Amino acid sequence: MTKIDVLLGLQWGDEGKGKIVDVLTPRYDVIARFQGGPNAGHTLEFNGTKHVLHIIPSGIFHQDKINLIGNGVLIEPRIFRQEIDALTEKGVDATRNLYISQKAHLILPTHRMMDAANEQAKGGAKIGSTLKGIGPAYTDKIARNGIRVGDILAPDFVERYGQLKRQHLTMARAMGFDVDAFRIDGLDLGQYEQLWMESLGTLKRFRFVSSEYFINQCLREGKKILAEGAQAMMLDIDFGTYPFVTSSNTITAGVCTGLGVPPGTIGRVMGITKAYCTRVGAGPFPTELFDETGRRLCELGHEFGATTGRPRRCGWIDIPALRYACMINGVTDLFVTKPDVMNDFDEVCMCTAYDIDGQRTDEIPFHYNTADIHPVLTAHQGWKQSLQGITEYAALPAALRSYLAEIERLTGVGIAAVSISPDRKDVLFKQ
Ligand code: GDP
Ligand code: IMO
Ligand code: MG
Repeated sequence: MTKIDVLLGLQWGDEGKGKIVDVLTPRYDVIARFQGGPNAGHTLEFNGTKHVLHIIPSGIFHQDKINLIGNGVLIEPRIFRQEIDALTEKGVDATRNLYISQKAHLILPTHRMMDAANEQAKGGAKIGSTLKGIGPAYTDKIARNGIRVGDILAPDFVERYGQLKRQHLTMARAMGFDVDAFRIDGLDLGQYEQLWMESLGTLKRFRFVSSEYFINQCLREGKKILAEGAQAMMLDIDFGTYPFVTSSNTITAGVCTGLGVPPGTIGRVMGITKAYCTRVGAGPFPTELFDETGRRLCELGHEFGATTGRPRRCGWIDIPALRYACMINGVTDLFVTKPDVMNDFDEVCMCTAYDIDGQRTDEIPFHYNTADIHPVLTAHQGWKQSLQGITEYAALPAALRSYLAEIERLTGVGIAAVSISPDRKDVLFKQ
């Protein structure tokens, strides 16, 4: 019996998970997504081309590997179809190696409408959702109203769809939401629904599986499985910066419920962090920089959302949050991405603790959203050189290696590899 390795984000998302999964895929037989949905945007780059995946696992470009969408994932058929079409254009036929759990829930067009209605109702306190329908679809799952992938083959599918849609329309109107003015990609609900329904045809071309049986069988056969996380630790529904979070368990524990594997089958847990920190959407971010340095990080790091195109907020790396992430997830290996963005910086800072009302702490307080948190910063010497062309960890500049060693010391977790460009080839493993 083999173990299932996990790869997840340790910050507020966009750490470079997709890229690292793509790099690690040759070592595995199966790549499985276990939560989230089209709110994710995972970017891969190779041979001078950039690819962005939302619902499809990031191992898809390795056509000899199985990619699995687990029961914990949400599928929006129209977005799924667009992703499949984009892959087809690039000559990738995913019908052979992409399997979908029958138990994965569907995002309806009216879930997306409800996302917008909820955000509107929150006014100034809005989450900054990606508006892909994530919160409302998971709400229906928990409320036992959801429709699952396997249900699209059932004779009463259209009836169940209609019932749920009517419920959403009633709720949205009761909230004072202007249903008629609502648009998705410039289309009104009726027009979008038509595309959505047509897209079910694309979904039906794929192999629907009982992913829990499939995965457990793979483990028994000694196959190697990598579980790919979406979003990240600090967006977790239970342990993130609630309510400014997503609606799923993004943490290692989510692998068990999102794929149907026992806790004892979890193997290595690979946590990804940027060498600095970003966040997109609303919510607390103690190390956020509002100055020229923050703007430079955004510009040099091309920090714009892969799903929504929104500029990401930028700041220094946050060690208390990283330590928390390592604790909750049982991280065994760290991957650090994007130090190259700070190549020109004279100094690079690290937040090692929080100062809250004169008290120093390195824990994430309950009142994270409202507390007046001042990051305690330590400055490190910049490396002031390009990392381009470096192919070995040991050849990284000494100042960068000492910065990385400090991250290892403060988190108590060893670094497995460092990524120094968006390209697949630029990942330097330490051993
Ligand atoms: P994910 O959601 O965690 O998969 O990350 P995203 O794809 O949303 O955002 C990461 C961004 O950083 C993408 O544009 C990547 O191409 C880019 N990226 C990943 N690793 C590196 C790196 O080491 N250096 C640089 N400069 N960019 C990187
Ligand atoms: P990847 O997988 C960064 C953020 C949104 C918003 C909050 C809730 O690419 O790292 P939701 O649409 O889930 O209701 O939004 O979570 N968010 C992400 N931020 N990366 C992501 O995914 C995200 N998915 C959701 O910006 O603040
Ligand atoms: Mg992303």
